[in-house]
Amino acid sequence: MTRSVIAGSGSFLPPRIVTNDMLAAELAERGVETSNEWIVERTGIRQRHLAERGVTTSMLATEAARSALRDAGVAADEVDLIIVATSTPDYVFPSTACLVQSQLGIAGGAAFDVQAVCSGFVYALTTADALIAAGRARCALVIGAEVFSRILDWNDRGTCVLFGDGAGAVVLKASADEGPQAPGVLAANLHADGSQTRILCAAGNVAYGEVTGDPFLRMDGQAVFKLAVNVLAQSAREACATAGVALEDIRWAVPHQANVRIINALARKLALPAENVVVTVDQHANTSAASVPLAFDAARRDGRVQPGQLVLMQGVGGGFTWGSVLARL
Ligand code: ACO
Repeated sequence: MTRSVIAGSGSFLPPRIVTNDMLAAELAERGVETSNEWIVERTGIRQRHLAERGVTTSMLATEAARSALRDAGVAADEVDLIIVATSTPDYVFPSTACLVQSQLGIAGGAAFDVQAVCSGFVYALTTADALIAAGRARCALVIGAEVFSRILDWNDRGTCVLFGDGAGAVVLKASADEGPQAPGVLAANLHADGSQTRILCAAGNVAYGEVTGDPFLRMDGQAVFKLAVNVLAQSAREACATAGVALEDIRWAVPHQANVRIINALARKLALPAENVVVTVDQHANTSAASVPLAFDAARRDGRVQPGQLVLMQGVGGGFTWGSVLARL
């Protein structure tokens, strides 16, 4: 049977870094009070990258895609599938994936977006893996990309300090190697509970030329916190059971980077040593669908993640949605 193998990864962060102190000073001008101490203590976030006005998700996604293609040694015209996970697409349509395809100067393969908020990358990776396993694609670009700064209410200190912009990508290729230690995606699971819509949403829309609802992100932080830890732990156990591996065999956990307290609580619940968990939320803040591929790429590039190791990637976010992909590199 055909498997899909992660052949390379890449990322792109907008160059403007905004530290907590810089953000606190900007917010103070609006009469919104926060501090570096509050943000670090409650979230672990120290800084975020924010896109300049006019910089779009497809631009960030294309840069991340180029970096992943270079890393994989794959030419753009070998790609026959592009999936972009995003909740901040450039347009209602065409999809961000079609814009990326055009910016890469290719045409003809499939290209579409996946909308599962912070779980988007895991949803997109699972979809690409399934299409490759079914023989319907051979070389996929799977991208998580967001400009969340554009849907934040900068007067709501409970949410605006939590997010950043960026993009991460992987190249997924078909492989016929089936040996017991062969690289490839070993297990994946996706879940949703639509009854939890209100705890995390951006419920605005444009209809008949008018903005309806509330265009900004709203969140019940404590409800999200509790649900996230429980569903991620359950999903990790499910992925291990499917692949027939033990939790202790996971060399690297790459969870969604929303909040260091969620990540630590999850690691405790699964008894994963802290040194086996990739954390980038301090540097990137929460980049929604981009957070997992950004963290994965950071850990590959600094040499932590090595071929042969088992890696668990996990997403959780609005919907409510959650899921895991377990892969051997
Ligand atoms: N600076 C200073 N004070 C603040 C700020 C801020 N940025 N934000 C809120 N506060 C204040 C509140 O007004 C409140 O003040 P009060 O006690 O006088 O009313 C106080 O801090 C406590 O507010 P809570 O909302 O109860 O704070 P909590 O400890 O729950 O922390 C947080 C909030 C960080 C959002 C937390 O609930 C959390 O981590 N939730 C997880 C959700 C998350 O990470 N979401 C990211 C997106 S979802 C996802 O990606 C899955």
